[in-house]
Amino acid sequence: MRIGVLTGGGDAPGLNPAVAGVVELATTYGYEVVGLKRGWEALSIPENEGYIVNLGPEIIREYARLGGSKLQCSRTNPVSEENDRTDLVRENMKKLRLDAIVAIGGEDTLGAAAVLSERGVPVVGIPKTIDRDLYGTEYSLGYDTALNVICESAERIAHTAESHQTIFFLEVMGRHAGWLALRGGESSFADVILIPEHPFSLAHLRDVLAEQLGRSRAMGFDQIYKLIVVSEGAHISGEGEVRKDAQLDEFGHYSLGGVGNYLKGLLEHDFKHTRYTALAYLQRGAPPSQKDRQMGRRFGNNAVEMIRSGDFGHYIGVQRARLKKVPLREIMRSPALVDVQKYYDTERLNVKQQWTNGE
Ligand code: F6P
Repeated sequence: MRIGVLTGGGDAPGLNPAVAGVVELATTYGYEVVGLKRGWEALSIPENEGYIVNLGPEIIREYARLGGSKLQCSRTNPVSEENDRTDLVRENMKKLRLDAIVAIGGEDTLGAAAVLSERGVPVVGIPKTIDRDLYGTEYSLGYDTALNVICESAERIAHTAESHQTIFFLEVMGRHAGWLALRGGESSFADVILIPEHPFSLAHLRDVLAEQLGRSRAMGFDQIYKLIVVSEGAHISGEGEVRKDAQLDEFGHYSLGGVGNYLKGLLEHDFKHTRYTALAYLQRGAPPSQKDRQMGRRFGNNAVEMIRSGDFGHYIGVQRARLKKVPLREIMRSPALVDVQKYYDTERLNVKQQWTNGE
């Protein structure tokens, strides 16, 4: 058995441990593992010699601890309507003598895997995205590490905000889903949290901040600052998301970024000192946390088991804390967004108090 493994989409901490998990169990069974560089690109071009790397057990220890993706990532879509390369994928698999593919990625990479699988390509999937918004799984690789980065960064920002008595916007990733802002903000005791699932009014945000500042002053605090954790996809109601530029990727997505700066600009006349920082890629490049290493290893091991038992066309999801096989097609269903009614206080623009340890 010869298995090809690829990582697609944006990088996320946990990709390398997942590859290590594949290699670990595959080599125990005597299977060969081949790394396919730059996601689906490796199988979507005719001359792909430079894209192929043999992966033996010697890579495990190194891969287990590294952030990013040693196999590199791309947002190549092998099944796009304008440029469908399914036949090339099949030919390349034949040329490389691959019996199965492990695709590690988010909605786009696994969405392409779903289409290829329906066309007879033997593929299994592992979910990754720091946004934690994939259908059919409570966990995706990278989320835990990104949350830890947000918490550490918020603490640093709070020191600066406190020293300068600043209204500080800390922008985090999360294109459609506000989990990173919600849970990162909750853990950092953010004063306000803004998520894509709840378009807000500027007047309301201004009132919430003014009320909080007034309360702090009335209590006699002399160091008054506010930490606002804002998701990159959050937006004022009636307005669209703030885009970084006008470019679309192969899957038709715009890059988001700058909403924190935009809000800072709108509020700087009302509040004396306002500042903005976007964590951007700092959230993605960190070394994987314990959880992302452990989950990467488990996902990788289980992907090999699925291949061994011929269970193609599925990805591994976590449901009610158990690993489950989910049909690849399901990844294209609506993303797992924050349930506003359950988890978000639209009056306080903050997390709702909870009596569970879930989500
Ligand atoms: O989907 C994961 C993610 O990190 C989003 O939060 C973000 O919008 C996007 O990737 C940015 O990706 P890139 O700039 O690498 O295309």
